[in-house]
Amino acid sequence: MTMFREGLMKGKRFLVTGGGTGLGKEMADEFAKLGAELYICGRRGSVLQETADELSKKHNTKVTALECDIRVPDAVDDMMTRAFNEGPLDGLVNNAAGNFISRTKDLSPNAFNAIANIVFHGTFYVTLAAGKRWIEQKKKANVISILTTWVWNGGPFTVPSAMSKAGINIMTKSLAVEWAPHGIRLNAIAPGPFPTKGAWERLNPGNMRGSAMGSETDTSAGNPMGRVGQMDELRNLATFLMADGCDYLTGETIAIDGGGFLGGGGNFSQLAKLGDSDWQAIRDMIKSANEKDRTKRTV
Ligand code: HXC
Ligand code: NAP
Repeated sequence: MTMFREGLMKGKRFLVTGGGTGLGKEMADEFAKLGAELYICGRRGSVLQETADELSKKHNTKVTALECDIRVPDAVDDMMTRAFNEGPLDGLVNNAAGNFISRTKDLSPNAFNAIANIVFHGTFYVTLAAGKRWIEQKKKANVISILTTWVWNGGPFTVPSAMSKAGINIMTKSLAVEWAPHGIRLNAIAPGPFPTKGAWERLNPGNMRGSAMGSETDTSAGNPMGRVGQMDELRNLATFLMADGCDYLTGETIAIDGGGFLGGGGNFSQLAKLGDSDWQAIRDMIKSANEKDRTKRTV
């Protein structure tokens, strides 16, 4: 159900990182539907292009696919230059991320970096590259970062992601103050479980039992509302934060999780009961998902 009037985002230009798939694609779809012009970025060029073509045709607006690995500062700067050369952006959604469940004792430094380089470093590079341009061009703008509720209570079995998202939570609050005089707002959304292919392959491989995420067939999973999130609900919250009209709202992180965090923590603490063989099976399933995706990457 859409809550907003047609054409609300007409004349606005947004970049959605990781906009080719999952939640990023949903938010991009909503902004495009409301008339915005969009840039979406990611590493898999063909996946991005397919989404850009689909959304631009569906909503009769311009959607540009920008292949970019946000872990690489120069690539981020090039991407931002390309977008700003066509006119200043009005907003950025920091949505790109990497994640997988694992016992922390099984992680190598490389495994930690595989997540932190995307979520912590990459998100900062993109925010900085946009922010510098907005400040220089005296352009009012808006940032939304997609976090998780684990920024408040920790993420057992997803420690690199939880640490990185917590860092971006503090970036949001810090820059909300530092950049308020420049007319730049920063807010964040902490979604509970919203089933996507990317997340489920890495956080709920094989729909294993005991996952806090639930599955498409078992959506209760201890959530007070007895269900996972619906995409429209996230799309509407992102639009509310991005649109003109709540300009005094900044530095906030809003949970959208059916009360999951308040009700029972909403993290993966119950995975403590899994044994060595379960974790090996999980790792094998995640590895095969990663390998399949990697064959489509060109950057
Ligand atoms: C332990 C693992 C592992 C696992 C990989 N590694 N999988 N360690 N358990 N399951 C280790 C590897 O052994 C290696 O370390 C290091 O991590 C890097 O592995 P690569 O496979 O080379 O990583 P890479 O190709 O860079 O892949 C990055 C990725 C991948 C993050 C691992 O999944 C990715 O690109 N994901 C993008 C999409 C995604 O993750 N979407 C989900 C977001 S969902 P060594 O030491 O062996 O070299 C999300 C939801 C949160 O965040 C909230 C839900 C409620
Ligand atoms: P997803 O479909 O896997 O989305 C992740 C996106 O990030 C992909 O499009 C991926 O594209 C992109 N990406 C990853 N690494 C990148 C890099 N180095 N450079 C550029 N792009 C990169 O999973 P999702 O579930 O929609 O997750 C989207 C966001 O929501 C993430 O921030 C996630 O943490 C958050 N979230 C999701 C849930 C949920 O239940 N789904 C809950 C809470 C929070 P490429 O692989 O092509 O680069």
